[in-house]
Amino acid sequence: MFRLIVTGFAVATAFAAPSFAASFNTLSGEAPLVIAHRGASGYLPEHTLAAYELAIQMGADIVEPDLQTTKDGHLVAMHDSSLARTTNVETVLGERNGSYNVSEYTLAEIKTLTVETSAGNSYPGYTPSMAEPFKVPTFQEVMDLVKAHNTATGDKIGVYPEAKVPSAETMNRQILTEMQANGFTTREDNSFVQTFSAQGAADLAAIQDELGMDNQIAVLGYAQLTAEGFGVYDYPTGTINQLADLALFADGVGVNLGSLTSEFIVAAHDLGLAVHGWTFNQSTEEDALAAQQAWIDAGMDGLFTNYTDLTRAIVDANVSAVPLPAGLPLMLAGVGSLAVIRRRRKAA
Ligand code: G3P
Ligand code: CA
Repeated sequence: MFRLIVTGFAVATAFAAPSFAASFNTLSGEAPLVIAHRGASGYLPEHTLAAYELAIQMGADIVEPDLQTTKDGHLVAMHDSSLARTTNVETVLGERNGSYNVSEYTLAEIKTLTVETSAGNSYPGYTPSMAEPFKVPTFQEVMDLVKAHNTATGDKIGVYPEAKVPSAETMNRQILTEMQANGFTTREDNSFVQTFSAQGAADLAAIQDELGMDNQIAVLGYAQLTAEGFGVYDYPTGTINQLADLALFADGVGVNLGSLTSEFIVAAHDLGLAVHGWTFNQSTEEDALAAQQAWIDAGMDGLFTNYTDLTRAIVDANVSAVPLPAGLPLMLAGVGSLAVIRRRRKAA
């Protein structure tokens, strides 16, 4: 593979001769996706419009909202079933039926809350464009943000919703109908739908067929090696699904990094399945590079990252799509963007 070599973020060329089109060991041969895990959640409160907007500005290919359902049936971006960890629900609304579960509160009530996490609520050089950047957003609001960016720039950033109630038919159907209404309809729209339930993923595929949709489907879980080959541990059932069975309806698998091996990636690719690793949480350039480069070399197709800018820089440093000297401006631009990131992070 001809590519730029990044060592301690000093970018040097690996070219002994003019380069050809960049080649990756991904399923498509294209650069891996930079997936903004809960937005730019290393810098701003997770699952907020500000975190998603910053991730888009940092170069995310796709943004990930986990989804929960409110008491009155709205999909909102929220990882936990409870509002307690990431919002001030305890002081503003108090407990409801013995819990702080999203399902106990209406959207109007949830909109009175503020998302507060250890990530802080500002990032150097970034000013949120929206009036209330740290409220719990609806899935619709996340898609509106992405669509506005795509319309303004011509980019094709996708959304990567996760059905956090894995086997819920109602939630699965609602996610897809909302995506369809917003134009995230086919794989060309660069979107995935994900769930920790293989059955839920199969249901998503069936509902898509019914609705005439073709977004990519990812099954989440832990990689497992069994006597029959590689599989994915399925949370809801406690069973292991073989990759060959998942390949019948899924486009990819989202796999816990601690369980993943390069052999698993090869096996998945042999079956036409993309592999997305979760979650990269390195907050320094050096640590991010050390953790992510080997997976890029192994052919990982998408990286769930809390630090969009760092993963974007690493992926971009692997790209050199045109021969020198025509590629020189791109290389210099890459070096320049790394310098900008370094300055921003120093300022932070
Ligand atoms: O969806 C991929 C990854 O986000 C799974 O873990 O718990 O962060 O949703 P979690
Ligand atoms: Ca998730």
